Amino acid sequence: MSHIRSVVVGCGAYLPEQVLTNAQLAEMVDTSDDWIVQRTGIRERHIASEGEYTSHLAVKAAEAALKDAQMAAQDIDLIVLATSTPDNTFPATAVAVQHALGITQGAAFDLQAVCSGFIFALATADNFLRSGAARRALVIGAETFSRILDWNDRGTCVLFGDGAGALVLEAQPHEGGRIEGRGILTSHLRSDGRHKSKLYVDGGPSSTRTVGYLRMEGREVFKHAVGMITDVIVDAFNATGLCADSIDWFVPHQANKRIIDASAQKLRIDPGKVVMTVERHGNTSAASIPLALAVAVEDGRIKRGDVVLLEAMGGGFTWGSVMVRW
Ligand code: UT7
Repeated sequence: MSHIRSVVVGCGAYLPEQVLTNAQLAEMVDTSDDWIVQRTGIRERHIASEGEYTSHLAVKAAEAALKDAQMAAQDIDLIVLATSTPDNTFPATAVAVQHALGITQGAAFDLQAVCSGFIFALATADNFLRSGAARRALVIGAETFSRILDWNDRGTCVLFGDGAGALVLEAQPHEGGRIEGRGILTSHLRSDGRHKSKLYVDGGPSSTRTVGYLRMEGREVFKHAVGMITDVIVDAFNATGLCADSIDWFVPHQANKRIIDASAQKLRIDPGKVVMTVERHGNTSAASIPLALAVAVEDGRIKRGDVVLLEAMGGGFTWGSVMVRW
């Protein structure tokens, strides 16, 4: 029987030019390069310049992904943009991106699941494509977390960075078994609002009428991260019959090197298969996975036909996994 698969046909990313190093941060708050590197693996992050918005980063990433797909913007009939740092409360940043790309057809909307946003956006777009509701989707993760950081709080301001990444997905007919052929093989999403106060922004239009700043109980988030990540990856393995040895690349959300190392170790994923960009990008929330994908595609690691395992965990808590044959 023939089915529809959401196949990745393009990948692109964009990082703002300005780089902020740990040494520069140590001049702003009571921290050190040693502490940040040891606890997180981060050495530097990119910061959007004044007047550079989330939509601007997203448009550049989308253009790169469209170029990689050898597609025109008009070929796209769905934009799902994952962000927690939209240009405005409304309209959706996705609409600004749609307009900048000159697209007047289809639907464009934002999706908010904090650091898991890209995984939630991919799963959402996949459902639209497989149901026949859309044919070609731009799935974007774009963030300017620098704008919601309290730059006096050393517990959070050293962790995050800005950037954007995008994939182009195309609905293609698929014959054959569940793990054969290209495209998204399985996705698994979870949320648990009991943890909503462990990582949040202390403002919002309905509560304070302000934007607010990011607040995090870092140790608490850390404590839950590895278990949650492992659970949704085991779900992906169970759904596909694949295992750690059968995946080619593990591209996790880039929050902290220690979390990534511990998750890979618990799942017995070969460290040589782990794509790690947290050192240069910091935690770019919903943008971190497509940014890491773009690096590994660009340097030739991820190739057509490879099985790539994606996962993320973040505020809410939300967490999820996607397995895709590139
Ligand atoms: O993206 C999705 C979600 N986010 C995450 O996944 C982040 C999860 N959490 C983490 O990555 C880690 O918890 C952190 C990197 C945030 C913190 O690492 P930690 O090993 O859990 O450190 P800690 O919070 O237990 O703090 C240890 C010490 C504290 O001092 P005392 O109380 O032991 O005297 C902190 O005050 O380190 C201190 N500290 C710092 N010192 C230097 C906290 N931030 C800093 C800093 N520089 N920037």
